[in-house]
Amino acid sequence: MSRPAKVVINLPALRHNFSRIRTLAPNSRVMAIVKADAYGHGLVRIAQCLEHADAFGVACLEEARELRQAEIQQRIILLEGPYSGDELSEISQLGIDMVVHDLSQVEMLDQNQLIKPVCIWLKLDTGMHRLGFSPDLASDVLARLEQFPCVKEIRLMTHLASANNREDPMTSEQINCFSQFNKNMSLEKTIANSAAILAFPDAHVDWVRPGIMLYGVSPFANSNGPQEGLKPVMTLKSRLITVKALKTGEPVGYGATWRCPEDMSVGVVAAGYGDGYPRHAESGTPVLVNGKRVELIGRASMDMLTVDLRSQPQAKTGDPVVLWGEGLPVEEIAKHAGTIPYEMLCAVHKRLEFEYGEA
Ligand SMILES: Cc1ncc(COP(=O)(O)O)c(C=O)c1O
Repeated sequence: MSRPAKVVINLPALRHNFSRIRTLAPNSRVMAIVKADAYGHGLVRIAQCLEHADAFGVACLEEARELRQAEIQQRIILLEGPYSGDELSEISQLGIDMVVHDLSQVEMLDQNQLIKPVCIWLKLDTGMHRLGFSPDLASDVLARLEQFPCVKEIRLMTHLASANNREDPMTSEQINCFSQFNKNMSLEKTIANSAAILAFPDAHVDWVRPGIMLYGVSPFANSNGPQEGLKPVMTLKSRLITVKALKTGEPVGYGATWRCPEDMSVGVVAAGYGDGYPRHAESGTPVLVNGKRVELIGRASMDMLTVDLRSQPQAKTGDPVVLWGEGLPVEEIAKHAGTIPYEMLCAVHKRLEFEYGEA
């Protein structure tokens, strides 16, 4: 690929993060969450590297099919279940597990004869009020599902709304609500996302479901991945494609939103919102040029952004740039752009070259 902007995926960092999860939750199996193209990292490559994961969580049948076509053998769970009854025969043929969170999905199972019975993860709404049955309804749904010949196993799950805020009492309330529901049941259970794996050991139970921490990113607003013992997996890199000497008062970029406070050099980096760099990143957002911090100035455009090179007057065309990742936490860039790292990782554009490295 001719453009210097590229994504480098550090596979040893991914393995490190996976083993950190095993250490934190030694008695739980791990459902690695790889939906949304493994949070932008590349679904199949990430799943292949996570050979010790016990299962993979995806958002739709297309993602599950892609994993099976790549001969991924582990359990695969459709986290939102089927969107229509037409999906059931393929789900059953491919041996995919499905979440059931809505009565329409119970009806689908009731009305379809399946070649092979499927494994169900019954979702309880313990307070987030996104997906799942209220505990009152869930007992009846469970009893009904147990009667279906096409259901071979049932597990229980819930999702936490605020585990990324360690102080929020809501998490304990949700955990209590879930345990109350299943206290006399021997079914396997899962509650914990990344934040709960790190902060709420009570939520670990039989299975944990890490997403963002697998990729080396903290789920908390006040820390970054390395501070949580994680290593960033994705680094967005590029190069300076020109360096300009500008005079005091001269504007930089679209809208002329930034003006040089003095005579200075300005670098143009080949990366922009067309690559997934957030357009809302403000002037002052850190960028690494030659491994040292400089600041973004002016507006990021589709293919380029501009940086203040006053601290590096010797910087020249071709010098290496890191937009986030190794040495520059994505969490920090997200704050400057008024977003969250999840959104930034998922938004990385497929026009970029992806390099999967073992070093
Ligand atoms: C049902 C479910 N479980 C687990 C996760 C993983 O969450 P995180 O990336 O915060 O670990 C997600 C992600 O949104 C999810 O939807």
